[in-house]
Amino acid sequence: MNTLKNLQLLIEKGVNDLKFPLQPAELYEPITYILALGGKRLRPALLLMACDMFGGDTTSAVPPALAIEVFHNFTLVHDDIMDNAPLRRGRATVHEKWNTNVGILSGDVMLVEAYKLIMQVENSILRDVLDIFNTTAVGVCEGQQFDMNFERQTDVQIDAYLNMIRLKTAVLLGGALKIGALIGGAAAQDAELLYTFGEQLGIAFQLQDDILDVYGDPDKFGKQVGGDIISNKKTYLLIKAIELAQGQQALELLMWLNNDNCDNLKKITAVTNIYNQLQVRQYAEQAMHEFINKAFEALHKIKLPFEQKQQLHDFAEGLMMREN
Ligand code: IPE
Ligand code: IPE
Ligand code: MG
Ligand code: MG
Ligand code: MG
Repeated sequence: MNTLKNLQLLIEKGVNDLKFPLQPAELYEPITYILALGGKRLRPALLLMACDMFGGDTTSAVPPALAIEVFHNFTLVHDDIMDNAPLRRGRATVHEKWNTNVGILSGDVMLVEAYKLIMQVENSILRDVLDIFNTTAVGVCEGQQFDMNFERQTDVQIDAYLNMIRLKTAVLLGGALKIGALIGGAAAQDAELLYTFGEQLGIAFQLQDDILDVYGDPDKFGKQVGGDIISNKKTYLLIKAIELAQGQQALELLMWLNNDNCDNLKKITAVTNIYNQLQVRQYAEQAMHEFINKAFEALHKIKLPFEQKQQLHDFAEGLMMREN
């Protein structure tokens, strides 16, 4: 088996070797820009680890791993437009550095570039891989639309929230792992278990993202702290706060949710205070741990010796301690 470090080196080399035309610059420069900002490269690492775990050839898994990373970066460029986000990985978002139209079109072409990379998988599994990729991509779009719809609703329930984050975030982790398993030659049942592992891990991952959006260290988080509060995102924290708030506190929370013209910093401070008083962070962390445990249950059912699953296990555990 490869070390995680080796797999990460394969990914970095692969990303650096991606070359795009020079013209029109506004179409291609944002791709190089966003990819060079790095990020955790979580999804391609999952894909390669999955392939490696079943004894597959990790070199042939690099193009689909890059496809998943390029696809992820495309979703971030469009997500930042939709979320009106100024910062990504500690730098200006694409639509801030260029403009919204540039963000839309370079995002579109990134989706196509992702397909070109996926096309490099062996013919014998191409149809199956494309099928997973397509199902995943549609899921992400559905999740993103629920996320946007929920900004305008105050009656979002936890189950609807969990389904929304399953779609917008978790299916891509599951999809990356399942593609890796397929390339590695895993049995169908094991590939499915790995998908479930990724899906449950992805839900925990997005819960953590929502927590960091409020409680992250601005110097390490790389995104605008409080962005979810400004746009009334129905995160676990906010849904729980709406559920628990009583009397004056409930009125104050609703006031901030209904006030479109307020000072953003005042709103972030006030809503964070309410979160602290109601201790909603603890509820979110508890939910996160429940999903991590569900993920590990699925991983343990995979018919491989634990030594071959340990890397994925430890990687998932490490993810939950992250600061960005
Ligand atoms: C950000 O994903 C979008 C979410 C699903 C929360 P990551 O946290 O994996 O972002 P990068 O790629 O490491 O920057
Ligand atoms: C993003 O959710 C999910 C996708 C990009 C599909 P968020 O909007 O929470 O992601 P960040 O926090 O901007 O990275
Ligand atoms: Mg966002
Ligand atoms: Mg978003
Ligand atoms: Mg977020």
